[in-house]
Amino acid sequence: MGFHYSVMLPETIALLDLKKDGVYVDLTLGRGGTSSAILSHIPFGHLYSFDLDEEAIEESQERLAKVGNNFTIIHSNFRDFVPRLQEIGVHEVDGITADLGVSSPQFDEAERGFSYREDAPLDMRMNQESPVSADSIVNGYSYEQLRDIFERYGEDPYAKAIAAAIVKQRETSPIHTTGELVALIKRVKPARELKKKGHPAKQIFQALRIEVNQEMDNLRIMLDSFDSILKPGGRIAILTFQSLEDRMVKDKFRSLTVVEGSREGPDLLPSELPEAPYVALTRKPITASEEELAENHRSKSAKLRAIQKK
Ligand SMILES: C[S@@+](CC[C@H](N)C(=O)[O-])C[C@H]1O[C@@H](n2cnc3c(N)ncnc32)[C@H](O)[C@@H]1O
Repeated sequence: MGFHYSVMLPETIALLDLKKDGVYVDLTLGRGGTSSAILSHIPFGHLYSFDLDEEAIEESQERLAKVGNNFTIIHSNFRDFVPRLQEIGVHEVDGITADLGVSSPQFDEAERGFSYREDAPLDMRMNQESPVSADSIVNGYSYEQLRDIFERYGEDPYAKAIAAAIVKQRETSPIHTTGELVALIKRVKPARELKKKGHPAKQIFQALRIEVNQEMDNLRIMLDSFDSILKPGGRIAILTFQSLEDRMVKDKFRSLTVVEGSREGPDLLPSELPEAPYVALTRKPITASEEELAENHRSKSAKLRAIQKK
């Protein structure tokens, strides 16, 4: 069973302020670290855990069963979590959490194609049933589409040159492996870039992973829907690992906790001003402690934000 270090777990649990008989949702089950911690705090409640990765579900079922039987695992994209819960009669929950991105076992299994350090088929699908893989994007997207995702999701300064090199190479030989793509990126980037810290393919791989799994759309749809199922007093805590995701969470949480422009309202009394529906539980995002950073490198880019419904 692959090991996954649950990032900022005590901080997440504290922010959720779990009630013994509460109903909670873990949108990203992964290897079940967060879910088993939640379960151990809610002996009379219920936990609904989502993941779209079949392997993650198989491996976590047993781990959770050791803690309690008051849980339900749902194999679904979290963008649909509200209708999925409603279908089974759940219309209100006390708390929601998400720990976004890829789990360590997904990265470590070379054949899943997430890692630029291994040579494997260009896959990167979190949901093994999805028809779109990194291969179909690299060999099927136009130059403009490739450049666009490399710029937007990878923020790679060589986006144009890499997109052009892919389109040229695939005319004669399609690119089917992570190794071939890494070799191409290394050929395109100048020597001084290759000497920099960090792997030269990191940003392009991140961009492809986001596109393959539609990570931005999933997050946006989830952020637009959770309010309809969260009880008054309920909390949501989200962990992100890259700046685009964090910005999306930050903006959404801000829009729910701050009423913009209320001072300019036409002659309203303070009691008549519209009130924000949520309160911020983290003014600034929480980042990992020194202790955690020493134990787990991946915690470095993590940001945790939470809000509470009034
Ligand atoms: C970082 S891991 C979660 C780790 C977990 N907190 C733990 O302690 O083991 C993220 C998980 O979310 C899943 N995931 C990512 N995007 C998803 C989505 N849109 N819907 C459902 N699951 C998703 C991935 O398959 C992965 O297993």
